[in-house]
Amino acid sequence: MFFRFVCYLVVVWLIPASDAGHCPDPVLVNGEFSSLGPVNVNDKITFKCNEDYILKGSNWSQCLEDHTWMPPFPICKSRHCGHPGYPAHGCFKGEDFTSGSTITYYCQEKYHLVGTRDQQCVDGEWSSPLPVCELIQEASKPAPQTECEKALESEELCKAIKSYMQRLQENGLTMEDLKYSLEMKKAELKAKMLP
Ligand SMILES: *[C@@H]1O[C@H](CO)[C@@H](O)[C@H](O)[C@H]1NC(C)=O
Repeated sequence: MFFRFVCYLVVVWLIPASDAGHCPDPVLVNGEFSSLGPVNVNDKITFKCNEDYILKGSNWSQCLEDHTWMPPFPICKSRHCGHPGYPAHGCFKGEDFTSGSTITYYCQEKYHLVGTRDQQCVDGEWSSPLPVCELIQEASKPAPQTECEKALESEELCKAIKSYMQRLQENGLTMEDLKYSLEMKKAELKAKMLP
């Protein structure tokens, strides 16, 4: 009788525990967690990433009564970067993509770099977006100009004309007077040239 009672107590005590059950085994690629065997409901476990990996997400999780994990499992991300890729018409100098190393971008002739030339691998990510190599626009040539147009634009010429007009005025001559005197000179010369 006593034995049966003890047996009953043990069963009553065990059933809720076994009913509660455990959660699916945790998973963490490139890392480890604190549990060794099956994890019971309400138990918490912690996560740690291997060297050169960074934990993204929560570093702990709890087995819930519905046998799910909360918060969700983290992931372990490499601290090193992948190949950063080439911009069109460009390349980079540097072979080391490990965390902390730098590379430098260059563009082909006739292209100039827009963006960040020097990039560093910081915990698995390149420090800036890929730069772009843009075609250099040929310096826009000024509209063709005749010598005359150039002369008219010249400030020297403007000054010369102004001072000439000023001198004429100072001598009491107008353009008409000047023209007349030139006509006279021309007539004189013509007369002299006649046989
Ligand atoms: C989990 O992360 C917290 C901060 O987010 C930190 O204080 C704690 O030490 C970490 N625990 C473990 C086991 O890494």
